[in-house]
Amino acid sequence: MTKKFPPISNKLPVLMHGADYNPDQWLHDPKVLEEDIRMMKLANCNVMALGMFSWAALEPTEGVFTFEWLDKVLDSFAENGIYAWLSTPSGARPAWMSAKYPEVLRVEANRVRNLHGMRHNHCYTSPVYREKTAIINGKLAERYGNHPAVIGWHISNELGGDCHCDYCQDAFRAWLKEKYGTLEALNFAWWTSFWAHTYTDWSQIESPAPHGENMVHGQNLDWRRFVTDQMTDFCDHEIKSVKTANPDLPATTNMHMTDGLDYRKLAKILDVISWDVYPTWHDYNNDIELGASVSFWHDLYRSLQQKPFLLMESTPSLTNWQPISKLKQPGMHKLSSLQAVAHGSDSVQYFQWRKSRGSSEKFHGAVVDHVGHEHTRVFKDVADLGRTLADISEIAGTPTPAKTAILFDWDNRWAVQDAQGPRNSGIHYEETVMAHHRAIWEQGVPTDIIGSEDDFAGYKLIVAPMLYLCREETGQKLEKFVENGGTLVTTYWSGIVNEHDLCHLGGFPGPLRKTLGIWAEEIEGLYDHDRNGIAMAEGNELGFNGSFESHEICELIHTEGAAVLATYTDSFYAGRPALTLNRLGKGRAYHMATRLKDDFLGEFYKQVVDAAGVERAIHTELPAGVTAQVRTDGESDYVFVMNFSGQEQCVKLDERSYMNMETGDAVSGELALPVHGVVVLKRQA
Ligand code: GLA
Ligand code: ZN
Repeated sequence: MTKKFPPISNKLPVLMHGADYNPDQWLHDPKVLEEDIRMMKLANCNVMALGMFSWAALEPTEGVFTFEWLDKVLDSFAENGIYAWLSTPSGARPAWMSAKYPEVLRVEANRVRNLHGMRHNHCYTSPVYREKTAIINGKLAERYGNHPAVIGWHISNELGGDCHCDYCQDAFRAWLKEKYGTLEALNFAWWTSFWAHTYTDWSQIESPAPHGENMVHGQNLDWRRFVTDQMTDFCDHEIKSVKTANPDLPATTNMHMTDGLDYRKLAKILDVISWDVYPTWHDYNNDIELGASVSFWHDLYRSLQQKPFLLMESTPSLTNWQPISKLKQPGMHKLSSLQAVAHGSDSVQYFQWRKSRGSSEKFHGAVVDHVGHEHTRVFKDVADLGRTLADISEIAGTPTPAKTAILFDWDNRWAVQDAQGPRNSGIHYEETVMAHHRAIWEQGVPTDIIGSEDDFAGYKLIVAPMLYLCREETGQKLEKFVENGGTLVTTYWSGIVNEHDLCHLGGFPGPLRKTLGIWAEEIEGLYDHDRNGIAMAEGNELGFNGSFESHEICELIHTEGAAVLATYTDSFYAGRPALTLNRLGKGRAYHMATRLKDDFLGEFYKQVVDAAGVERAIHTELPAGVTAQVRTDGESDYVFVMNFSGQEQCVKLDERSYMNMETGDAVSGELALPVHGVVVLKRQA
């Protein structure tokens, strides 16, 4: 039985290809639009994200609207088979608005109000800003909500940051009242008896500030949760204001790699997830590590709604804001773009279509360079990719099923960074998560990135590195998961605090203690130059021997039913358990008490993936730096084989029959991959 998701837009039920388009920078030269349309077709582009920063061109003075130029752009799009994600312009505002209504300007944590300028610096609580966005959005919706070229709404741009103005302080207090009911409950949850910080009136509470309160961890956590809720509410306000004319048009907002907002909450109000990624390829020999980490983020954004997402922005060549602006080497554009599709994207889109002539992004890569024509290397790469996307377009809408998941909660991210100990010079939470993901990615195993509130039941393997903030309920869910036959992997610094950042009493890892069959008595941070290591126990169940180096963190654990798979090699705790396996019900729970490196993780996951009964995309051993991912509609599998190794590689396919989707040729036996090569294969599911 085939199973596909309905197209993101019925008007464009294929893989989308295009860019951010900012024609309001070129209104003085009408020939530009004509040229752009001609070249968009040559570049095999079918979609543009239009008008993201156009507020000044749409409402040059308060209440005076100039839509004629946008009419013209959208009409030409419609005549030429190009579609638009129409943007709301709230990411940046006209100068007249800041001048007349200073409350729209954001107040920083130091309580200083910003001057007009830059972007992404509005107050998301300000009644005036909300009113002004509702007006312009409503007008856009009325005029274009049923335009044939418009396929959906692109809300604002890269929402993020926080505002500390009086409106936001009031909203924070209201949010806290709603959450805690009484000051007594709040004081207990925040442990304010420490340093005499007890609040006796709601009005005393403020957002964290560099020159004020910033060490009450429960308060810091709640502020970040509030900021997510308030920003989500602002986004929802924008969505409501554009959905008036045509509620069927989907809405998205382009996410980016911020840890500031809990995207799982924002995801709930969006019709489709989209995100922006700008990897720094070719920095020394890091393409493998970077390839793995970009895959992690794609997996995360797909997992937010467990369905296809959009790659809303990427660069067709280089960026101009990273420390070094390297060009993509031949082949890298295709590899990097199809990597997104492999992980569930139904689009490849860029920032931006045409290079700006002035201001801060004039040297950022774009499809059309300052030379103004299509005879460039970058344009050719883009056009070629457009052809490839057309060749493989039946993949649009197909799911990316995974039996493995990594647990990655935003509030754990925040709390673990805020903790103060055991290693303030670098606890490396995200790097650790990424290292575990990479070891699984290298096996060609599809992985979801999930949160504690997601359903665990469909997975065979769940990896939860450094689950420092672990709610009682999460502990119970993981226990049930293991009892029912799942495999769980955890590490040191897990089960330490609850949702308020209050330590679990009675022994770590708190709610995971029974599942892991251990008690973690002490934890030690190591200096950067310190090393410890583990020695695998003779005849251990993982089936491999030897010693492996470890660093940064060593937890001193006692087993309470778990088997010891490896022991420490050094320090006064040499010989004590460092790697354990607990069997509970039908499942298993592994615990790593120390930070192990890629060599160990590679060996470990090779065994654990098989023992957990998780399937690889191809039943074969992949060369280092080569991975495979699969999308499937249940009838056909679409297998992406990707070479991030920087060298030519050869992959031994399994016995199934494969077809190269671009050439139509049958492929069997050995598959040769050039440097930065990527091949999309089709096989029967
Ligand atoms: C972000 C923004 C774009 C642009 C690019 C440049 O992703 O959304 O407007 O500034 O960065 O890389
Ligand atoms: Zn504010």
